[in-house]
Order: sequence, then C-alpha cells, then structure tokens
Amino acid sequence: MKAIDIIEKKKNNEKLEYKEIEYMVNSYVKGKINDKTMSDFVWQIYYNGLNIEETYFLTDVMIKSGETIDLSSLNKPVVDKHSTGGVGDKITLIVSPIVACAGVCVPKMSGRGLGLTGGTVDKLESITGYKLNLTKKQFLEELDKVGCAVISQSEKIAVADKKIYALRNEIGAVDSIPLIASSIMSKKIASGSDVIIIDLKVGKGAFMKNIKSATKLAKTMVKIGEYYDKKVICTLSDMNIPLGRNIGNALEVKEAMDFFDGKYDKRLYELSVYISSLMISSAKKISFANAKKLVINLLESGHAKNKFYEWIKSQGGNIHKLKDKAKKVDIISTKTGYVNSIDSNLIAELVFNLGAGRVKKTDPVDYAVGVTLNKVIGDKVKEGEVLGTIYYNKKLDGMDKLFINSFKIEKKKKRVKKIIIKTIK
Ligand code: URA
Repeated sequence: MKAIDIIEKKKNNEKLEYKEIEYMVNSYVKGKINDKTMSDFVWQIYYNGLNIEETYFLTDVMIKSGETIDLSSLNKPVVDKHSTGGVGDKITLIVSPIVACAGVCVPKMSGRGLGLTGGTVDKLESITGYKLNLTKKQFLEELDKVGCAVISQSEKIAVADKKIYALRNEIGAVDSIPLIASSIMSKKIASGSDVIIIDLKVGKGAFMKNIKSATKLAKTMVKIGEYYDKKVICTLSDMNIPLGRNIGNALEVKEAMDFFDGKYDKRLYELSVYISSLMISSAKKISFANAKKLVINLLESGHAKNKFYEWIKSQGGNIHKLKDKAKKVDIISTKTGYVNSIDSNLIAELVFNLGAGRVKKTDPVDYAVGVTLNKVIGDKVKEGEVLGTIYYNKKLDGMDKLFINSFKIEKKKKRVKKIIIKTIK
C-alpha cells in the first residue's frame, strides 16, 4: 500500500477501505509517514469529506491505536458527558456531582483548554491539591466510593487522535465534521461508558457556528455510537453569549460553588438541570420528567452540594485554597438600555489575552484571571452602572475596551434566545 495512492483516491472522491484508513493512521503514529503527507491526507478529507462508514473506520482505527477503559466492575449505571467547548462552560463541575448523587456513575476524562475555550482540567487545577492524574485503579476506586471522578485525559487513549488533532490544530483543519466526529467519538468510546451525552455548542464562541452544521455533526456522532451499541445523545446549546456569569478558571469554580448555594445564573441553571436530567434518565432508563424532579430535589435538599464538596476533597482538592490571586477593575457602562448581546467570541479573546488560555498544550495558564459579568443578556443597564469586572495580573492594554465592545446595549429589549436548541438521539 502507498500513502500517495490513498491520498489520490480521496482526492478523486472515492470511498476508502478500512485497511487504507488504517494504513494512513498507523503509519503516521509510527512515524512512517511524515506531517506533510498526513496533512495532504487530512486536507483531502477536509475538502471531500468521509461518508458515515469511512467516518466509523477512522474512529475505530483511532480507538485501536490506544488503550480502552473497562468500567464493567462498577455495579451502577454509568454515563459520560462531553462538551464540545464553550466560553464559561463549567457544566461538568455542576452536573457530575448531581448525577452521582442520583446513583449514576460519572467517569469523566477531560482535556486542557486549547485556543479560546477553556478546559475542565484547567478549572480543576485552580483548586490547590486537586489530583488529575489518577491510575486506572484509583479512578475506579473514586467512582465506586464517590460516584463521580474527573481526571485528565489519559495519554494512552486514542493515541492516533492526539497526534492527528494536534496536526489539525497546527494546519487549521479542525472544522471538518467527519474529523471532529471521529476525534470526539474515538475518545468517548475508548473511555468505556455505554451512554454518552454530548453538549454540542453552537454559535459565535463555538466550533460549530450554525445549527445546520451542528445538526449534521450530532447525527454523525449518534450514528457512530450505533456501530458500538452505545447510546449517544446530543444536545445543541446556544454559545453566542457566554455561559453563566464567570469566565476564567478559578472564577468558574467559584461560580459552581455559588450554584450549589442557590445563587445561579438562569441560563446556566437551565442547561445544568437539562443535561443532568438527560444523563440520569438515559442511564437509569426513567422518564425525563422524573429525572428532572429528582435533579431539582437533589439541588434543593443540599445533597448535590454535599456531593460536590465530597468529590473535590476526595480527589485531594482544597476548595478553600483557590489559585485566585489577581487585581480587579470594574468596567462601567457608558450607555443606558438593555443588554441584547454579549459576544462570547470577544469575551473569550479577552480572557485568553489576560492569560487564562493557551496556544500549545504545554503553555502555562493564569488560573486567577478572567471576567465576571454583572449584567447579562436581557438585563436593563444605566450609564454609570457596573457591567462587570476584569481580574488581571498583567497590563490591561485596551482589554477594558474589548469588554465594553462585547456588550450590545440598545434602547429596545430584544427577545432572549433559548439556551437549549434541540436534542438529537
Ligand atoms: N474536540 C475534539 O476532541 N476533537 C475535535 O476534532 C474537535 C473538538
């Protein structure tokens, strides 16, 4: 087999066989074909696509390139949750303890943030002592004892995806539906859960900019799940505006703590309750309405809050010692009117420039920096009122302007779009 023939075949839009995709992926992992040749292959897929069977082939080859996790020793229903990455997305911190409290195991392997969106691993690292690198045995013990555990993605899972995803990031070939679907699903299937809930973000601050392409991606991932007899459910949620009121690593942990104290942003509450209910109903095979009642009860009774603190402590974290040392400055509104939009992309850029994000996986991040929003979508604001606060450790360099520019304040109030767009099963 020759790489050039396989690339040529895709260039002519012909369907690839399993062994051809396997040859390209495995040869790249072993260093037998170089970045340039693999880039050519990736670009042909980017432009000509893969059909569903080829997408499954790619997923399968990437799963087999690494380890898989066996969760069969857990004698409870198990559900995994994945977010495609959003601005201010601290949902994992909130839903994992809620779902664990309902008697469902949540084994979560998360990634570090890359580019503009933050990763759950970085948020948890802002808690002093929190251990993200557990052995397989420790991971299973935590799940057995607490019901949820969040660790960093093992280097040994879907090894080929790591290499190919890094290459795609470097050459700008991330936004391809078959490549994203196979990348996400290879990691999720290898991680062992039978039920996988995907929170697929759509809008300015997300990979998927519109509902049409997000729907296509969702359907592809649900289909891949069928090849493995896994239940995959994708919820499309709005990411045109940031999620919640805090954006930045330690700040988002604080927002999760506030959430369990009953102080929550409306949209964050809505999505958290929805995703937890979906996780519980599909894992326990109960109705969504009953799962939702259970979720609300677990929140109001304080059981979910206790589970949140139990989980963080059990993984070694001291939640009262957050890495949150930063200066702060309030940003004042120069206009009177209604907040009709807060551009999540601009907020992400701002938080990234403050030092909360990274370009390469190995870059350090500043856990303390970020922004809080005092005014959110739909709120009335008067000139001179505080719009929000920037937490910073280096020069502001016009970032206050960027903050103001991200707000669209108009005389007439516009209808606020729903956060949950649709769910695809
Ligand atoms: N997240 C992934 O894990 N892979 C992609 O390709 C895109 C988002």
